[in-house]
Parts: sequence; structure tokens; C-alpha cells
Amino acid sequence: MEAIALQPLRAGVVGLGWPGETHLKHYNAQPGVSVVAIADPNAERLAKIQAAYDVPYAYGDWQELVARDDLDIVSVATPNYLHMPIAVAALQSGKHVLTEKPIAANAADALAMVEAAEANNRVLEVAFNHRHRGDVQTLKRIN
Ligand SMILES: NC(=O)c1ccc[n+]([C@@H]2O[C@H](COP(=O)([O-])OP(=O)(O)OC[C@H]3O[C@@H](n4cnc5c(N)ncnc54)[C@H](O)[C@@H]3O)[C@@H](O)[C@H]2O)c1
Repeated sequence: MEAIALQPLRAGVVGLGWPGETHLKHYNAQPGVSVVAIADPNAERLAKIQAAYDVPYAYGDWQELVARDDLDIVSVATPNYLHMPIAVAALQSGKHVLTEKPIAANAADALAMVEAAEANNRVLEVAFNHRHRGDVQTLKRIN
């Protein structure tokens, strides 16, 4: 079978506490993935993470990150009440979204996110399962 040439994946990460930094680290650990932009209103944290991971663009306002037209995926690792507005804006502007758990602060917000993903034919994933873990994948193959 002919090998498929994969395009590099360009990621943005919103919210730079422990969860967001973990997303960033794991994007960086994947070949062909680069974190292009980060956002957090905590200026000190933003500058520290930008320097530590050599991220090209850093924003205090997540809307500026989402407005970029060169991102494939946006990670949302903010407090829960912000998952919906950030995810919906990212999905509506053509990005895939990986959001932290829980998906949202309430069911209505969660539904708005799912509908935005479906309407824009983008992937919305919640970091709330173990199916991508190496041990789980191995067990699945054996089964
Ligand atoms: N997967 C896991 O194991 C795990 C563990 C802990 C938390 N979480 C989830 O991760 C998310 C973040 O958790 P937390 O809030 O406790 O982490 P946190 O407090 O460590 O980080 C949140 C970050 O979001 C930033 N932030 C706040 N408002 C923002 C805005 N308007 N725009 C951009 N960034 C903003 C804060 O400055 C902070 O740096 C939550 O959804 C939480 O449920 C997941």
C-alpha cells in the first residue's frame, strides 16, 4: 500500500495550568506536531511557558489565538465554564478541539459544543477516557 504523506499538525493550547502544560508537552512529543500558539491571561505563566517550550505566539486573550487561520487543533484546558465558548469558537473557525474534562459546565453547553463540531465537520474530543493509553490499546489488540 502506498504511504500517505501526513501534513504537520499545528496546535494551539488555551489555559496553561498543569492540564494545559500536559497537552503542550504531549503535542511536542509527537513527531510532526508543533504547538504554534498559547493563550492565558496570567502574563507571568504565559511568558514562562512560552520561553520553556519555545512557542512562537502567546496571547493574553484566547480569542486572538482562535482567530488564527493556521491552526489545525485547539486544546481547551481552562476552567470548565470557559470550555463551551472557546470550543465553539474554535470549531466554528475550522479547528478540531481537544477539551479537558468535564466537557462543559452544564448539559446545554455540552450540546452546543457537539452541535458545533457536527455542523463544521470537525473532531471534538474530551480528555475523559483511557482508550488512547498504550496498555489499553495493547489489551484491545489481544482481545
Ligand atoms: N485530565 C485531568 O486529569 C485533569 C486534572 C485536573 C484538571 N482537569 C481539567 O482541566 C481544566 C483546567 O483545570 P484547572 O482550572 O484546575 O487548572 P489550572 O487552574 O491549573 O489552570 C487553568 C488555567 O486556565 C487559565 N485561564 C483562566 N481563564 C482563562 C481565559 N479566559 N483564557 C485562557 N486561559 C484562562 C488560568 O490562568 C490557568 O492558567 C478543567 O477543565 C479541569 O476539570 C483535568
